Amino acid sequence: MASPRHWLRAAFGALDELCSRAFTPAWNPMLQLGALGWFFFWIVAVSGIYLYVFFDTGITRAYDSIESLTNAQPWAGGVMRSLHRYASDGLVAIAVVHLVREFALDRMRGKRWFAWITGLPLLALIYVSGITGYWLVWDTLAQYVAQTTAELLDVLPLFGEPISRNFVNEVALSDRFFTLMSFLHIAAPLLLLLFMWIHIQRHADARIQPARGLGFVVFGSLLALSLAVPAVSQARANLGAVPAVIDLDWFYLPAYPLVQAWGGAATWQALGGALLLLGLLPWFPRSKAPPVARVSLPDCNGCGRCVEDCPFGALSLEARSDGQSYAVEAVVDPDRCVSCGICVGSCPTATPFRSASTFNAGIELPQVPLAALRDELKTSCASLTGNDRLVIFACAHAGPLDEALRRNSVIARMPCIGMLPPSFIDFAFARRLADGVVLAGCPANACRERLGQRWTEERIAGDRDPWLRARVPRGRIAASWRDDLGAFRRALPGSPAFPVAAKSPAGTALSPGRSRWPAVLRVAAMAIVLGLISGMTALLAAELPWRQLGASESVVRLSIRHVTSPKVACKPLTPQQLAELKPNMRRPVDCPRERWPITVELERDGRLLYRGTHEPSGLWNDGVATMHRAFAVPAGPQSIVVRMRDSGREAGFDHVRSDTIDLQPGQNFVIEFETGAGFTWN
Ligand code: HEM
Ligand code: SF4
Ligand code: SF4
Repeated sequence: MASPRHWLRAAFGALDELCSRAFTPAWNPMLQLGALGWFFFWIVAVSGIYLYVFFDTGITRAYDSIESLTNAQPWAGGVMRSLHRYASDGLVAIAVVHLVREFALDRMRGKRWFAWITGLPLLALIYVSGITGYWLVWDTLAQYVAQTTAELLDVLPLFGEPISRNFVNEVALSDRFFTLMSFLHIAAPLLLLLFMWIHIQRHADARIQPARGLGFVVFGSLLALSLAVPAVSQARANLGAVPAVIDLDWFYLPAYPLVQAWGGAATWQALGGALLLLGLLPWFPRSKAPPVARVSLPDCNGCGRCVEDCPFGALSLEARSDGQSYAVEAVVDPDRCVSCGICVGSCPTATPFRSASTFNAGIELPQVPLAALRDELKTSCASLTGNDRLVIFACAHAGPLDEALRRNSVIARMPCIGMLPPSFIDFAFARRLADGVVLAGCPANACRERLGQRWTEERIAGDRDPWLRARVPRGRIAASWRDDLGAFRRALPGSPAFPVAAKSPAGTALSPGRSRWPAVLRVAAMAIVLGLISGMTALLAAELPWRQLGASESVVRLSIRHVTSPKVACKPLTPQQLAELKPNMRRPVDCPRERWPITVELERDGRLLYRGTHEPSGLWNDGVATMHRAFAVPAGPQSIVVRMRDSGREAGFDHVRSDTIDLQPGQNFVIEFETGAGFTWN
């Protein structure tokens, strides 16, 4: 049975191809998701700086400052705000699709673990940035976010007192938490930027800018979306009421309904479990790594081309260790080398024209020695006949080759097409081994080893060392990611001058007959794809409401903060007890620090809603005993009883309050207890 990864890979293959046709391979967004992530980050950063200039960080003034920004300057502040929101949503979507795609293509296992593992904090930081951002608006969504986040954080042993208490009512509300959120909303994106930089540290020439044309159309779609569906606030936050229905942003807040359904602890367990599973994926199941590249010192002149071409920063030049007159030599870092072979293709000594019957290039993959490749080419090509003989250099990820293409051909496989030294193509023609050469690799711009296809193109074009000699007829070479191989194949027999092969935009043309879409169709397809993505973004960002409370329900919130009395009263020490103590420990009275826990019960219409015991905080249980819980209850008249024991008594309670109250739908009814004040409610 095919694995989920297999299906995912097939799905991404189809999507990649569709996008390559609609956008052309150079603009294909699926092939530059990381670069688009950077692009969206910059849009969020620039628009965020603009918003911050007009934002008032005081909790009472925040809402008005954002409202006035949206309404008083719709073409500047309003658009900036919408760009800020939609680009943030886009960043989540891109990061998630990028994650799934890298998993599907298996570009995260073994030696390639680094980008994956550093990607996970990126995901967390994107969420922290977005969630704190929603908090700052201080509308009903912010109120929901604040209360639910507090509930979630209170499960963790991070804070001495439940932070939910900060959001029970307007009186409890303080600027303190709000200032912390403003700080976090700036610190998290800065940290995100740092991790984005770390994320690409093992990638030489990492692509952090999308193709310019793609950048324009993507920004244009964001702008169009911002104008068509401007981002707005929901109603002003009101802690006296519970917003029953909220327009959630499903990009950032999909876990929040879970907090309500499962509770904070289970939500953390699910999130932690998912993160742990993702973190283990690069090593699960374990795969055997192929041997890494090996430098042959007698053949290495220290030119450094391999260092420049390695896509994974696995090579460096170090001081010479073998006494040769060259200053440096290439050194492989086995922990980074993914055995792609691209360094072999870059080495000037990797040439089949060398006279020795066996030879070594300066750097080689032990499992694909070049001398064996040359010998096999010579032997196998000897059995080809006619004048349409083909040599196909195929990368391990090129996929199955069409039967018509394979006729009268020799196939030489290698881990990546970038491993092919251009001199091998020259060799095939110079020794009359073939009439045509096909390079079969990954789809255009989608090289699995990142740079193999690009370096190959540049070497053939003569833009990169080692280049293909000018004498080689370029028209006799076709590349699967660029040319129509069918047309190329058909043109081979007997044709003295090879026609220039038709180009196939999709690039996966390992079988004949792929055609380029007309421009009108491409533009229409692009518009449809971008329009669909924009529409989905608008829908998920604010148009799919979430009902957190039934229409005829209200909320009872129980919030207690109490300093109980010590378990044992202070008692004076006798002279004899004093004498037994060390001089520096002597004090006239002994006061054990431990205090009584609180046991709380909440009853509604004679039925128990809650019972729990809470220890005082502190290492010696000598701090404040706190608890905070919220309960959705039917609205209407009902009797409420709340009881608390805060002494050593076996039965009964020290504090009780009861009454019949009439709850309005959506009302936030708060029962509080403060030491000295007893139970208060409203
Ligand atoms: C802010 C979000 C992110 C940004 C901006 C970003 C950016 C990038 C960039 C620029 C590359 C290099 C592409 C190239 O030139 O080949 C890359 C590669 C990669 N990223 Fe991300 N990334 C993000 C999130 C993630 C996440 C969440 C994961 C997964 C946990 C992830 C996993 C990877 C992997 C596995 C690679 C490829 C490694 C390889 O080719 O060996 N990234 N990312
Ligand atoms: S095989 Fe690939 S990863 Fe290893 S050193 Fe050569 S180019 Fe770098
Ligand atoms: S390209 Fe070849 S010769 Fe040059 S440093 Fe690398 S291994 Fe040595």
